[in-house]
Formats: sequence, C-alpha cells, structure tokens
Amino acid sequence: MDLEKLLKEMTVFEKAMQCTQLITCFYRGVKLEDNTANAIGPYTKLGLKQSDIYLAGSVNFLCDDTGAMLPATELERIQKSCIENSPHHIPTIFMQDIIHGYVTVYPIPLAMAASFNTDAMEECCAMAAKEASLNGVHLTIGPMVDLSREARWGRVCEGFGEDPCLGSAMARASIKGFQGDDLGKYRLATCVKHFCGYGAPEAGLDYNVVDISERTLKEYYLPNYKAAIDAGATTVMSAFNVFDGMPITGNEHVLKGILRDEWGFDGAVISDYAACLELLTHGVAKDEIEAALLSMNATCDVEMMTTLYAQNMEKFINEGKISMSQLDDACMRVLKLKEKLGLFENPYRDSDYERAKESFCCEEHREISRKAAEESIVLLKNDGILPLNKDVSSVAVIGPLAHYGRILGAWNCGGRESDAVTVYDGLCNYLGKDKVFTSRGCDIYYAGTDESEIPAAVELAKKCEVVVLCVGEDQDDSGESASKSNISLPDIQKKLFREICKANKNVVALLFNGRPMAIEDLDADARAVVDMWFPGTECGNAAANILFGETVPSGKLPMTFPRNVGQCPIYYNHYGTGRPREDDSRRCWCQSAYIDSPNAPLYPFGYGLSYTEFAYGKPYVDKTVLQSGGDDCITVRCELANTGKYDGKEVVQMYVRDMVGSVVRPVRELKGFKKVFVKRGEKVTVSFTIREEDLAFYNAKLEKRAEKGAFRVWVGGDSTCSEYVEIELV
Ligand code: BGC
Repeated sequence: MDLEKLLKEMTVFEKAMQCTQLITCFYRGVKLEDNTANAIGPYTKLGLKQSDIYLAGSVNFLCDDTGAMLPATELERIQKSCIENSPHHIPTIFMQDIIHGYVTVYPIPLAMAASFNTDAMEECCAMAAKEASLNGVHLTIGPMVDLSREARWGRVCEGFGEDPCLGSAMARASIKGFQGDDLGKYRLATCVKHFCGYGAPEAGLDYNVVDISERTLKEYYLPNYKAAIDAGATTVMSAFNVFDGMPITGNEHVLKGILRDEWGFDGAVISDYAACLELLTHGVAKDEIEAALLSMNATCDVEMMTTLYAQNMEKFINEGKISMSQLDDACMRVLKLKEKLGLFENPYRDSDYERAKESFCCEEHREISRKAAEESIVLLKNDGILPLNKDVSSVAVIGPLAHYGRILGAWNCGGRESDAVTVYDGLCNYLGKDKVFTSRGCDIYYAGTDESEIPAAVELAKKCEVVVLCVGEDQDDSGESASKSNISLPDIQKKLFREICKANKNVVALLFNGRPMAIEDLDADARAVVDMWFPGTECGNAAANILFGETVPSGKLPMTFPRNVGQCPIYYNHYGTGRPREDDSRRCWCQSAYIDSPNAPLYPFGYGLSYTEFAYGKPYVDKTVLQSGGDDCITVRCELANTGKYDGKEVVQMYVRDMVGSVVRPVRELKGFKKVFVKRGEKVTVSFTIREEDLAFYNAKLEKRAEKGAFRVWVGGDSTCSEYVEIELV
C-alpha cells in the first residue's frame, strides 16, 4: 500500500479519525447520542455522526454487554462495515486488554514475575496471542510494565513487581511472546503501558498524584518500558498520571523528549481511556481546545474514547495551531501500524472462529497455563508438613476461596469462571472425591461479618487429617481502581483461620492475592503458607501438584511482603540512608527505625522456599578488576548444591552495590538471575557476567555512567543473601 499517496487523498477529518479510538458498542446498536448507555467515560460528548464510526482508526472493548468476548464473526462484520463505509476503505484495528490470557487464563503478571521464568512468560503470551488472533484481535493493550513498590495499589497485580532487572526481563519476554519475531501468524501487536511512572501513586491510591524525581523515574521506573520498546513493542500508552507537574498525555518532556527523541520510538502513542479530556480535570487545560493541543503537541497520536482531535482538527489546521505535517505524522504512525499488521492486504488476519473456539482452554493451553501457575506459586512457610502424603486419609478444603471460580485474577479478558478448576476440584481430581471435603466457612469480602458458617467448617476441620485453608482476596479486590488502606486478611477470614487452627493442628494456608499482603498471623500459626496469587484457569490442578509434591515449588517474591500496611511502600533496592537501623529487635534512638515494628519485611524480595534444600557456596570471580572504557567483563560464579530430598529448581540471584558513588546508591540491586534445575544430591556452578554498563547509574547531571571504585557482589537465594565478593572498576 502506498501510504503517502493514501495520506494525500485523506481529508483532515479522516486523518483525525484515524487518531481516534472507539469502542465496539457503537457498532452493535448503541447510538452515539445514547445517554442511557451503561458505560464509563465521556460517551455523550463524542460529537460524531453515526456514520463517522466507520472512520475510527481503532476499536477497543471487543465484548458484549456481559463482558464476554465477541466472536470473530462479529468482528469480521464490523471490519467489513468499516471498510465499506469509509471513503478510502481503510480497515480498523481491533484492540483488547489481554493481560494474562485471552480465554485460557494464566497467572496474573505479578505471579508470572514470581516464576522468574522468562520462557514460561513468553510461552503464555504466545498462547494468548494465538487464541486472540484466531478470534479476530490484532493488538493487545499490554503488556503493563509499570514498576511498583506499592502493595496498596491494586494494579500491582498487572505488572512485574518492584525490580527493574526482573521487570525488564519479563517485559522483553512478553513482547517476544505476543509479537513473535515479525508480527506474523497468530501474533498480536502490543501496547506498552502505562508510560510512565503510573506505578508510583502517592499512598497507593489509583490515579493519585505521582511526585517522583527525574532520577527515581530514570533509575527505577523507566527501564521496564525501555526494555519493552527495545524488544520491538509496536505502540505505547500514555498514562493517566502526572510527571513533574504535567499529566503524561500532555507531557512533551516524557513523550517527545524521552520516548521519541532519546529512545527513538517511532510507533503510535495511544492515550489511556479519556486521558486527553482529563487534562481539563487535572487543571492544566482550560478547555477541550487546550487539552487537544497539549496532547497533540506532546505527540499523543491516538485518543482513546474522546474526540477532541476529530472535533477540532480542521479549526487547528486553519488557524495554524497544528501543522498539517504534525497531523500527518500522527496519522501515518497509525497507518504504518496497519501496514505492519498486514491489514491492507488482509483486514481479517488470522480470524477463524471455529478454530478459535477449539483453541480456547484446549488441553495444550491448559497445560501451558498450569505449568506457569506451578512455576509462579511461592512457598512462604513450611515446617515440614508439605508436601502432603499421597496416602492422606482426608483433606478438608475450607475457606471462601476453597470452591471458588473467581481465582482467574483481575483483567482476565475472556476468561470464564466455568472453565476454572477450583482448589476443591483440583484436589478431587488428584485424590478422588471420597477423600476431599469442603466448606466455605465465611464470606470473602472485608464487609463480611456473618459467622454462621464457621461452626460447620470447624466440625469438618475436626474430622479431617489435614486442612487446606483457602483465604485472601476476591479477584476484583486487586486491579484497576482497587486500592486498599488495609492489606491484611478481612477480619472474618482471620476469625475463620483462628477457629480452624484450634480445631486442627495441620493447617496449610493457601493465599490468593493480587498484591503483597500483611499476613503475620498466617505466618505465625499455619504449618505452611503457600502464595497462590491468582493462578488462572488451572488453579486447582496446580495447587494439587504443589501440595502433593508432584511439582517442587520454585517461585520467588517479585515484591517485598510487609509485616503491616504502615511499612508501605517497602522495597529492597532503596537508597542508603545516613542513619540505617542497626538492630531490628529493639528500639533504636535517632536511627531510621519504627518504634512499633521491625523495619524488615515479613518476606523479602526474591524470597521463596522449596521442598528440597539448596546450599550456596561463596561467590568467586575470574578476576577482581574490571577495566573501564572497553568491553571488559568479570565472570562471577557460585556453586549451588541440592542437599535435600527432591529434584528442584532454584532462582539464583546476583545483587550488586556500588560502595561509593558521586550520588547516593541503592543498598543493593538485582543485576542478574537464573532459574536452574538441580537434581537431588547434585551440584551446579552458576555464572553471571558483569560489564561496565551493568554498573552504570545516573550521576548528578543525570548522565548514565559507571564510576571507578569498589563494588560488592552477592549471589544467593533472595535479596538478603549474605555471601559476597568484592570487585573494582578501574
Ligand atoms: C486502563 C488501561 C486500559 C484501558 C482500556 C483504562 O482504564 O487504565 O489499562 O488499557 O482502560 O481498556
């Protein structure tokens, strides 16, 4: 397709409409002027004629009123109508938030990060891309790569946790999985979001003020987006939040300056839902005209569900407020995306509803999802009760999440509860129905006060050999707009837990959570605590395999788990302070210390137990001196012995500290990790490479440089590991 020629033939309005994203309901009977439509967003202000919908460059929310994904046949019909009813017959792009699975749901991204397994991440994304592309989707509005240290923020479940090294690795793997090498068959284009800094809202409150320094932004928050873009991500979403006084959608410094000029990103930038219009509510634009100009000038190319460009562009061009070349650039980025997707040749791409249906939750996809869940589950405590004995006489599966399908996780797209294997179902599949019993015990929500079901659960606990207690959050208690000021278990669940512990000494707690939770009580009184996160469709089967040792747990925490909400935000890679706390067990005067809580978290970043034992040797290096200014490297090695009773996988982590910097440096930073399989009784040597660029950071002028001097390098099984070796950059 000759895009230049096409562009020349298009009117200003047509170009502006390419820069507009609508949602599917308008193509399915909802009239643009319908005030009664049950929807979020500025539905009634679109100011378009019904026939204009066919000109929209892209379409989002590919679902019906119940949230179920539209069949490919329906998207084909909509596509056909767009092509037939638009003057230049330009196909539209179908976009959908595919965050952790399309119909077969795999663990939430935070859990995928806990797997520390980039191959699993890639495989899961490729699976989602296949199901979605067969069902007519062209682009996933993901991955969400917002780094976050905020357990209170519900959206941590969508991202990869608190560390940029882990987050970048997962971001790269996601792009590779969704897009493949060349956006070919069964692949989706991507939209990296939410650029940038959306994961740092004050007090963990969604959409709240973000006020971080440029240093913090660059050092911690930007690497994940950069990794995704370097991996070839096709589009980027501008976030709702402010950076340095300006909402990102109108922020020239970050969108133009960092993203385009510094990083060379030349794809389309799409606003978050109605974010262009929200420049008014933010109070940085006095009217829609100003809001549109700010967004356009920042090179936000596409408006999601607002029409400020479409309504005002002719006027802007006539008045010289926006130049034609500016509009052309924005429109061209959208057209080029269509070309990349091959939509001009084949507007239906991989669409094939019959095959799509066959792929949804097929055996192969269930297996991929189950394996990913098993890799992501983190064993937080075990006094030896796990793995359970297969000859167990009876198991009571108790708790609001025991026989509960809402364990797919937030943003589960086309996930269907009816496909989900509950913990109870999974244990029945494994042990047979006659040995497994269940009781809900209490309601799941914080508001729950009804204790009437507790006695029956207690009776059941008394009769069974082991209790698997399933507690935690409902899937919608994390995710967008799900901030919390209390990250403990709801009181009613705590009460149930206490009563069950009195009735049976063998309580294994399974925690379901989209965020770190404050669970000192579980840690104190359950014999084992297993973090399930939201594991997706194969939840129960994965749980059974872990509980009975068919799979040895190998997940590690991608976020620090605080003891209490007052410690938030808490993260391992913080800058050093002048008065670090010396002793966590006593009151420390004039030190950076709580008087009512240890500073240390309940579980640190990188932490997770196994059924086997791993013994680390002291790390050693091939040489201690690294020459700067070339491509010199040091190899750090460490022996890892599996001294326990099971074959198992371990996530070996390497942390670095720059002992003296021209600006303050983090107390340690993850610089590499490897997930290795070691047979029991065997030993492996794990190696990492350190180059000058791995030691670089932003100096006082915000230039990224490594500085000569001493560095400490730790290798171990979590972020508190103590064995290190010293190296020097000269
Ligand atoms: C969310 C985005 C999402 C968009 C469209 C917004 O509310 O912040 O993550 O992609 O809706 O679905």
